[in-house]
Amino acid sequence: MARKIVVIPGDGIGKEITESAVAVMKKAAEKHHIDLTYEYHDAGGTAYDKFGTPLPEKTIEAAKASDGVLFGAVGGDKWDNVEPTLRPEKAILGLRKHLGLYANLRPVKVSDTLVEYSPLKADVVRGVDLVIVRELIGGIYFGDRCESEQHNGAERAWDLENYSVPEVERIAKLAFETARIRKGKVTSVDKSNVLATSRLWRRTVTRLADDYKDVALDHLYVDNCAMQLALHPTQFDVICTSNLFGDILSDEAAVLGGSIGMMPSASIGEKTSLFEPIHGSAPDIAGKGIANPIGTILSAAMLMRYSLKEEEAAKTIEAACDKALADGYRTPDLYKDGFKKANTEKMTEVILDRV
Ligand code: NAD
Ligand code: IPM
Ligand code: MN
Repeated sequence: MARKIVVIPGDGIGKEITESAVAVMKKAAEKHHIDLTYEYHDAGGTAYDKFGTPLPEKTIEAAKASDGVLFGAVGGDKWDNVEPTLRPEKAILGLRKHLGLYANLRPVKVSDTLVEYSPLKADVVRGVDLVIVRELIGGIYFGDRCESEQHNGAERAWDLENYSVPEVERIAKLAFETARIRKGKVTSVDKSNVLATSRLWRRTVTRLADDYKDVALDHLYVDNCAMQLALHPTQFDVICTSNLFGDILSDEAAVLGGSIGMMPSASIGEKTSLFEPIHGSAPDIAGKGIANPIGTILSAAMLMRYSLKEEEAAKTIEAACDKALADGYRTPDLYKDGFKKANTEKMTEVILDRV
């Protein structure tokens, strides 16, 4: 029986990049005789404009009933002033929560082909191969908040961060298990010199390490980690951190390989998983047809691997992207003299030819 993929393009470049990724998935599925159907659903600002909500019930139900979700991006200036609970970003936050996607895996691998594209020196980034394991449905993103209140005669707002031991345990377990099948090292990142939630985080991770004696564990404060990512990024294997810190560190880590447009992610949890590039809707280039589709195409490869257990199809997609880059094709975010300039459509075509 055909397995069902729910595709949620979202806003801005979301539509352009998911179109590319679906084309590549279809070709890889055909090559490996995998039977898939695709069902499209609305989310984000586009859904808000149509239905008055960024995350229609129908989208949630379809995602839950699917074998894997491919998500583009949501958000844009147009919706910056809508009521906070109806912002486009609530679509992705809501999907993560409804699907119980507690872990977000953000791999960053700097291939030799791309070493020269890094904003850092080639010697610093050569060999970078790390994964950020970001907690995704807890912390300050989902704590109580107040948009505005009067306090001592002034307006103020607040957001509350809380973490429970089981929440930290389940993400840390996944980090240790991920390290076990990689290079065997976990760096837990917190701000335990200031925050109570971070002290609980560090205690819990340290306790759990007893069950993973074969994995090396160290701890870094998040400010130092941000610096180490620029100074000596090859020291990292698995970085395990909270929702907010993981969001920030992953944009920084993504650019080690030259462009945020290339970085995929997998959000996994109890049942259905969701796959999305780590970048946003890129309003500055939306509609121009120049977005780098590789982050989304590699997210589709992760969907093949993690949700469908189709390792060969995942490898086919990854190899096709590598080959397109090795053959000199570059979208404008990575373009330099001497290479072949490709817009989204051309890049997709070049990758399809190599599937
Ligand atoms: P962004 O990631 O959209 O863009 C940051 C910069 O990177 C921009 O200059 C953009 O042009 C560039 N960029 C991003 N993706 C690219 C690609 N595939 N190819 C080439 N260049 C690319 O971040 P932002 O500007 O801070 O946010 C824009 C909107 O996207 C906001 O509404 C934000 O909330 C939303 N956002 C959504 C998601 C998501 O849906 N998962 C993730 C991040 C941001
Ligand atoms: C990401 C994004 C989201 C986040 C936004 C759009 C809510 O920045 O996936 O990294 O902060 O998690
Ligand atoms: Mn982010």
